[in-house]
Amino acid sequence: MSAITGAAMVAGIIGRPVTHSLSPVLHNAWIEAAGLNAVYAPLAPTADGFRALVDGLRGGVIRGVNVTIPFKEEALAAADTASDRARLAGAANLLLFRADGTIHADNTDGLGMLLALEIQAPGFDVGAGPAVILGAGGAARGAAAALALAGVPVVRILNRTADRAESLARDIGGQVTVAAGDDALDGVNLIVNATSLGLGGGPGPDVDLAKAPETAVVLDMVYKPLRTEFLQQAAARGLRTVDGLEMLIRQAVPSFEAFYGQAPPVNVDVRALALKAVGESA
Ligand code: ATR
Repeated sequence: MSAITGAAMVAGIIGRPVTHSLSPVLHNAWIEAAGLNAVYAPLAPTADGFRALVDGLRGGVIRGVNVTIPFKEEALAAADTASDRARLAGAANLLLFRADGTIHADNTDGLGMLLALEIQAPGFDVGAGPAVILGAGGAARGAAAALALAGVPVVRILNRTADRAESLARDIGGQVTVAAGDDALDGVNLIVNATSLGLGGGPGPDVDLAKAPETAVVLDMVYKPLRTEFLQQAAARGLRTVDGLEMLIRQAVPSFEAFYGQAPPVNVDVRALALKAVGESA
């Protein structure tokens, strides 16, 4: 392990619970491989302690933090400035503490999704046709904002609770619409599972993938298990698949760059480490 001195660059992640977050595994592996004098620490405030913690970090006490459940909306609200993608998603997973005391919010979740598509579905053109997002929670919002900003012509939201799909579409606006029942998969280019269905094993979302064109790509944000039932169904139908672990790893890259001023090293297999941490074999 590289030496950590009083001059170390410090960043971390705020969540509750934060115990099972993979971010410390990823960032600390990159730090070690790059030989940086840096740390990435997990921070778990009480349910109402987020704002006090973040305000206490103003002025560059530490470089920045990632933010995870349940604080992503509060993170955006705590910031003084925000990127378009964070504002549109209504949530932030990255806060940067500037020396002048201000806080900048960003959201790299959607970027992680786009990078994962590039890596696991090479040549795929996300803007070539409609996308369907299954779910209407925070994860779906981040995905919808990123796809809208990436110029996807139509982003259809399909959710068990129609009200939530409608408010998501209303909030983001533009190309984001509520899916119309059976026609949701018509001519679709990309299908994203942003529900929690399939987590821990068991059935994924109840959509008939046979209705999707064979050129469609399917991404599942659930990464435990890595090969979810939904991805298995997609593969059986002959569709290209992208897993949630790649998305998780890729969303961490811009955070690392922002915290430590350099790209993560490529000579460490963080995917294998993350798989081990979630109890899957590489
Ligand atoms: P996150 O912030 O991770 O997106 P969330 O806000 O709790 O979490 O959203 C979970 C999503 O999974 C929602 O779209 C939820 O559908 P509802 O809005 O109808 O609750 C969806 N979801 C969870 N369990 C589900 C189930 N058994 N069937 C269908 N959808 C489900």
